[in-house]
Amino acid sequence: MNSQQPFDRCAVLAGLGTCLPSRIVTNDDLARRLDTSHEWIHERTGIARRRVAAPGTETAHLAEAAARAALASAERTSCDLVVVATTTPDRTCPATAPRVASALGLAGAAAFDLAAVCSGFVYALAVASSMIEAGTCRNALVIGAELYSTIIDPEDRGTAIIFGDGAGAAYLEQGSRSDFGAVLEHDLGSDGNGRDLITVPPGERYLRMRGREVYVQAVPAMTDSALRVAKSAGWQNGDIDAFVGHQANIRILRSVAKRLGLPEERVITNIEDVGNTAAASIPLALASAADQHRLRPGDRLVLTAFGGGLTWGSTALTWPGIRPVRLTDQEGRRGADRHDAPLRGPRPPEAGRRRSP
Ligand code: UT7
Repeated sequence: MNSQQPFDRCAVLAGLGTCLPSRIVTNDDLARRLDTSHEWIHERTGIARRRVAAPGTETAHLAEAAARAALASAERTSCDLVVVATTTPDRTCPATAPRVASALGLAGAAAFDLAAVCSGFVYALAVASSMIEAGTCRNALVIGAELYSTIIDPEDRGTAIIFGDGAGAAYLEQGSRSDFGAVLEHDLGSDGNGRDLITVPPGERYLRMRGREVYVQAVPAMTDSALRVAKSAGWQNGDIDAFVGHQANIRILRSVAKRLGLPEERVITNIEDVGNTAAASIPLALASAADQHRLRPGDRLVLTAFGGGLTWGSTALTWPGIRPVRLTDQEGRRGADRHDAPLRGPRPPEAGRRRSP
């Protein structure tokens, strides 16, 4: 098939970057001021620690650093489109993305925010990939960036133990469906009747979550969405090499994996180290899996998210064999001054665009 023909054209994942604040808050730290314990949190959620940004940090700082890292990972310097998926935009108006694009030196790039809470990254991936497929842009930065520490009630043990700050970014460019890294299919959905289950109530400052009710809906919704996207990609359940679910609760991930018939080794988790980072969760999990050498070029991945809205979504893609680049929030700020971020070490031999057999 000619890769220039529109029906073969698709977005390809070419770079992955992350930015995590350097400050770590452990369960024991929380247990010193809340009626909870490390044992309860770890057993019921899988979380041991999370990152919390320093006061004065803005969502744009984390987003920019993750995007800078994704550009370094892809070894690219230009980009047509910047999408920031976030629950915590720095301002109600304007969006965060234009500031991020300017800070990255991407003069004139299209830039907008996308609000789909924990499903934000997969929603943004679908939008940006579709724009690349349509030829509206040639490449895109898809960023999930969250500063939940600004909307968490420090006295609410139902949310304070779960959420963390962070950002992850993917660099997409035009390629063909047979390329390793091809972003193949999407499944998106919502149910606004559940809008009060995860919400910052009107006129209030803090997020409120009815955790158990969310949990009960998350498991079937994520399972069904993952099944639909795999089917669209022409995959049987057994074909999924890695399931990268939104890191909300280890028990949710295990239940979904069981329903999908996937063995535990195909379920990617990093929740123990970063907690629930909402729209940043999936790119952070992907990067940690790549760092642990759990993904091989050409592996079939399903990304699945569920969250406020309610919203859910899945993406089917193959793994390109890229090396993620990581920055801390301080490095990100220094990078912003310097306007470049070094690649950490040489690219691995399998890096770069390859085709499936
Ligand atoms: O990211 C967007 C999507 N969000 C999610 O997917 C979150 C889904 N929900 C969850 O992950 C879980 O519902 C939570 C982790 C939030 C809560 O876990 P749970 O197993 O659903 O606990 P629960 O709310 O049903 O509470 C069980 C018990 C209660 O005590 P009693 O009534 O049985 O005596 C709670 O008061 O655990 C108690 N509890 C706690 N104990 C210690 C609730 N939170 C805590 C806590 N520490 N932090």
